[in-house]
Amino acid sequence: MGILKKYRRPLKWVFQYVKEYKFRIILMLLFDLAISGASLYTVILSKRIIDNASESLGITGIIILYIVFMLGIQIVSAAGSLLSTLVNEKVSFGIRKDVYDKIIRASWHTVNRYHSGDIVTRLTSDAGNVADGVINTIPSILQLCIELILVFFTLFYYSHFLAILALIVAPVSVGVSWLFARRLKVLQKKVQESESAYHSFLQESLANLLIVKAFTNEDYSVDKLTELRKERFKWVFRRSKFGLLGTTTIGLAFQIGYLSAFTYGAFLISSKSITYGTMSVFLALVNRVQAPIVNLAHQIPKIVSLFTSAERIMELSEIPPEEKLEVNIDTTLLGVKAEHLTFAYDKDTVLEDVSFNIAPGESTAVMGESGIGKTTLIRLVMSFVKPTEGSISYYNTKGEETPGSAGIRKYTAYVPQGNTLFSGTIRENILAGKHDATDAEIEEALKLASAYDFISELSNGVDTVIGEKGFGISEGQAQRIAIARAFIKKAPFLIFDEATSALDEATEQKVIGGLERLTPRPSCLIITHRKSILKFCTSQIMIEDKKITTKSLN
Ligand SMILES: Nc1ncnc2c1ncn2[C@@H]1O[C@H](COP(=O)(O)OP(=O)(O)OP(=O)(O)O)[C@@H](O)[C@H]1O
Ligand SMILES: [Mg+2]
Repeated sequence: MGILKKYRRPLKWVFQYVKEYKFRIILMLLFDLAISGASLYTVILSKRIIDNASESLGITGIIILYIVFMLGIQIVSAAGSLLSTLVNEKVSFGIRKDVYDKIIRASWHTVNRYHSGDIVTRLTSDAGNVADGVINTIPSILQLCIELILVFFTLFYYSHFLAILALIVAPVSVGVSWLFARRLKVLQKKVQESESAYHSFLQESLANLLIVKAFTNEDYSVDKLTELRKERFKWVFRRSKFGLLGTTTIGLAFQIGYLSAFTYGAFLISSKSITYGTMSVFLALVNRVQAPIVNLAHQIPKIVSLFTSAERIMELSEIPPEEKLEVNIDTTLLGVKAEHLTFAYDKDTVLEDVSFNIAPGESTAVMGESGIGKTTLIRLVMSFVKPTEGSISYYNTKGEETPGSAGIRKYTAYVPQGNTLFSGTIRENILAGKHDATDAEIEEALKLASAYDFISELSNGVDTVIGEKGFGISEGQAQRIAIARAFIKKAPFLIFDEATSALDEATEQKVIGGLERLTPRPSCLIITHRKSILKFCTSQIMIEDKKITTKSLN
């Protein structure tokens, strides 16, 4: 019962997908049952063929009927496997989409605790396991149970004794499976975890190929991959060994059951109590009672894998969505204020009881040494992370106020630290800032970001394709594209996190000049290490030793 309780949550989660595709799954089940029923009938037909033949009666009709059934079975099973492929695709994509949707709406801070390689593994390999379980394993179990009942009573009709004898395999099966399921689950979890580690390494080393090469870490990387592969192999092998032990035990019980039936049948024939036809039915049916039981035992590892993977995916889908409050104030121009703000990522406090106020229309420079908490302050202002204590709110010139939440991001434009371009065309990257922007708007944004000139010189202009992390253009060019992406949004609140760090001073001045010409002119929060930017700012925030000091620059 303990196990049932533990499986209740994943079971419920899995069943929401079973429910969604119930008609198709039932159809597949019906196909399978039709096949079992028909093949059971062929056993009875074969008995009649043997009995009729041994009594020199006509068998042509029965043989034709037998062939019709055989053909029917082949056709239905082909249709069934086609349907199963279709439903499998739908279910696995359905799960991936649901979970991707959840992850993308969850808090950035929580999702970031997982390695992206781990998330991808859960969304691919684990989602595949669940889909396979929903489409194949669960219907198989139902079908095998029905088949078992059907065949058992058919055999019971011919021989009570044999039917009971054939069930010998059942307690062995159940016992062995019960004992094995728990250990198997631990092993299965290890298998999936090692898969995640392996994927994460693969993904990260390829994304940082340059670093691998710069430090001549090629051999080391290949060795590390081999090591991770070995680790995975170890768990896969242990799981297989363990699974095999279970199925071998059950297989042995099966053989004993069959041998007993065979001996008993031979004994009955020698005493002339049954015909050869009945003997063939005995053997076939004993086989068919045992087969579903053995098959059911074979489903155990699959069920274990289904639940292990379901739990791994559920863990992701249970990350709560971030708070997203509706912004109901006039957003033409926004200011932001923080009151008694304290923030710690885990234990170490980055900011302690700080308050500041950036009035609507103000341009504020944020300064402080590396690692002091500038980016963290931005993450708080943009609600990527939640304050441990205190509050952040936005307000407008009319004095209306709205609390900080994910909802505010509709009104903020952000140029993050580092290269944040996507692979694709420059146009696609800019459109991420405003999906329905016209060509004229793109041109304006690029000009204001001082990116227009170099892009015009590219043979494909804004339709030039750039690679992952802006591969194919320079760091400073990538920064200006990221700035244009923020400019085109025309948000009332603009945030630069060292957005011009890769630019020479003259270009930087041009970009800042562009920022000043933005209409409407937004409030700005500019993180910088360069004093030259200060002359464009009306105030300054200095972070030092977890505290903030504000200074007016006018
Ligand atoms: N995701 C995180 N989890 C835990 N600690 C973090 C995380 N991000 C940053 N920190 C820590 O918080 C502190 C502030 O980091 P932050 O990135 O805000 O610094 P910064 O002022 O922007 O530095 P830089 O000028 O180098 O960009 C650092 O000590 C850093 O180690
Ligand atoms: Mg930073």
